[in-house]
Amino acid sequence: MALYSEKVMDHFRNPRNVGKMDNPDAVGEVGNAVCGDIMKIYLKIENDIIVDVKFNTFGCGSAIATSSMATEMIKGKSISEALKLTNKAVTEALDGLPAHKLHCSVLAEEAIFAAIKDYYDRNGIKYDKKIFTMHSHDDEDEQKD
Ligand code: FES
Repeated sequence: MALYSEKVMDHFRNPRNVGKMDNPDAVGEVGNAVCGDIMKIYLKIENDIIVDVKFNTFGCGSAIATSSMATEMIKGKSISEALKLTNKAVTEALDGLPAHKLHCSVLAEEAIFAAIKDYYDRNGIKYDKKIFTMHSHDDEDEQKD
């Protein structure tokens, strides 16, 4: 059996939404606690809707594939819908990742949450801090299946 699904390979070879954004409304940058890789996400937000997303990563193929899929999953969605995104949903949408690469999928989720937090901070929007602390996870959160 192939180690990576066809969807992972597709998003790795042809990542969607890669690049930098001029004048983003929010930026999220996070480092992966496990491997030290880095992810940066830029959001363009209009009337509470994420109208555009771009990402750059200094990370592995799984990080590229999960970020690509995650950006596709939040594009056109409202902020509150984007806040429901989980790394589990992203890996499921990619038909799974090998267990030892699951930590890579956390990077995209955390970067998106960091960007939304940045958006709230820039605009003086009040929020429950718990929303964001829940999403800076450690490895214990990784699913085993
Ligand atoms: Fe670092 Fe995958 S090994 S994100």
